[in-house]
Parts: sequence; C-alpha cells; structure tokens
Amino acid sequence: MSQEFLDRYGPTALVTGASSGIGRSFAEALAARGFNLVLVARRIDRLEVLAERLEDKSRISVMPLEIDLADPGAAQRILDATADLDIGLVISNAGFGLKGPFEKDDPAIQAEMLMVNCHATTQIARGFIPRLRARGKGGIVFTSSVEGLIGCPYSAVYSATKAYVNALGEALWGELTPDGIDVLTLCPGATESEAAAKQGIDPATMTNQQSPDEVAALTLDNLHNGPTYLPHPHYRTVFDQLLSLPRPQALAAMAQGMKPR
Ligand SMILES: NC(=O)c1ccc[n+]([C@@H]2O[C@H](COP(=O)([O-])OP(=O)(O)OC[C@H]3O[C@@H](n4cnc5c(N)ncnc54)[C@H](OP(=O)(O)O)[C@@H]3O)[C@@H](O)[C@H]2O)c1
Repeated sequence: MSQEFLDRYGPTALVTGASSGIGRSFAEALAARGFNLVLVARRIDRLEVLAERLEDKSRISVMPLEIDLADPGAAQRILDATADLDIGLVISNAGFGLKGPFEKDDPAIQAEMLMVNCHATTQIARGFIPRLRARGKGGIVFTSSVEGLIGCPYSAVYSATKAYVNALGEALWGELTPDGIDVLTLCPGATESEAAAKQGIDPATMTNQQSPDEVAALTLDNLHNGPTYLPHPHYRTVFDQLLSLPRPQALAAMAQGMKPR
C-alpha cells in the first residue's frame, strides 16, 4: 500500500502551513511514507528543525520555504522554487480564522484571511495543476473546515473563506478526477493545534477534538474518496443532521453554539 501510494502521488509532496498543527502532521505522515517534501510557512526556524528531523529519521530530502501566503506573489515564489521538482501531491493546508461578531473584526485581518485562505489556495492550485496534468497522476488536498459547510455566525469571514475552498475543491474534483488526479477537500472539525488559542479560545473548553496526526493519516488514506471528507464521525453525524434542517433553524442552532459567552 505504501509503495503504491508513493508511486501514485510521489516522489515529492508540497505542504503549506507545515510549521504546526495539521500541516506538520501531514509532513510527518508523508515522510514516513517515503515522500520528499517542500514545506511552506512563515516560521522558517520551525520548518528547518522539522526538515532536519525528518531527513534524519526517514532518509528523505526536505526543502523548507519561508513564504508569507498573504503576499500576492507567494504562489509564484513556490512555483519558481520547485520548478525542478517532480511534485505529485499538493497539500494546500495553511489557513487561519477569526472568531467574534463580524462588525468587530479588524478589516486588515479579514483581508489577510481572504489572501491566505482563498487567494493563495487558488493560485497554488492554478500553478500546480498543469504540472500534475503533465504527469498524468497525482493529488491535491485542500484543507477546508466543517465551518465551510454552512454560514457560521460569529465566524462569518472564516466560514465564508472555507465555503469558497469547498466550492473550489468540489469543482476541481469534477474537472481533474477523470484525468487521474485525485482532489480531496478536507473538512476537519475541532482539531488539537495552535489555531484555537490564536483565536482566543481556551482549548480546554473544546469537546470532540481530534489529533492532527489522526486527521492527516485518515486524510491520506481517503485521498481517492473525494470530493469532500469529514475525518471525525461526530461531525459527520452533526452536520448530516444540521444540513437536513430548514436553513433558518440550522443557522439559529449554529448562532446559539458559536455566540461568544
Ligand atoms: N484546528 C482546527 O480546529 C481546524 C478545524 C478546521 C479546519 N482547520 C484548518 O486547518 C488548517 C491548519 O490549521 P491548524 O489547525 O493546523 O492551525 P495552526 O496550528 O495554527 O497552523 C496553521 C498553519 O498555517 C500557516 N500559516 C498561517 N498563515 C500563514 C501565512 N500568512 N503564510 C504562510 N503560512 C501561514 C502557519 O504557519 P506560520 O504561522 O509559521 O506562517 C501554520 O503552519 C487551516 O486551514 C485551518 O483553517 C483547523
């Protein structure tokens, strides 16, 4: 299975947002499967430590890239830096959120979120798809969120960015799977990472969390089971029920659950 997986999606994978959380877990899981890696994030010190560890442990080669995905030229920089590499798997995972009433959001952070979660994601896909098509096989994972499945009160912009990622990922699944390129839009629920604390949420108050290692491992095992994948059974059940409700009722329930206390 491991060799088959490496033959289909290897020899090299790109992982954005690899300096922590789900992205770091993707990097570790792929290194264990024998992939060479290109790792992208702003915190280059973390990427370098990870690269050294994975190269020693798994006898692979790792290229850490210090790139701010809010920069409009970020995708081109990644494409230029990897021009000589045979990348068969693109894990477009970097992203961040902001919780609270919409009108209290900092507009500059809203704009940055649109750049990182939507613009960079789109341009990375736009840049790598011709390369994947030329090889006739490969895969793309878009890390979205269950918050992209419904407009999420008190997380309005984040939720909207992830709805965009869901639509992009589904559309590209429709375009690329007939040509041998798997596309999976990953919709995690609450996952243990730095994300909660960055948004002012006490991780201890969160229930039904999944470890990032489990999210990454399940996602790789389900890469061919697109278009969309919810890795946690709890969220599969909750969102099946929620999305079957009349929309006003579903949104009222979400607002109740998400309202800052
Ligand atoms: N944790 C959850 O509960 C959860 C649930 C659903 C979906 N998700 C999604 O999962 C993905 C990974 O998040 P996580 O939970 O693993 O959070 P995390 O631990 O905060 O990791 C976020 C990653 O994205 C990178 N990143 C953020 N802004 C960036 C920028 N401007 N340029 C380059 N890299 C940037 C960060 O790297 P640097 O800071 O070093 O740049 C970091 O590596 C995100 O897309 C998130 O929306 C998370």
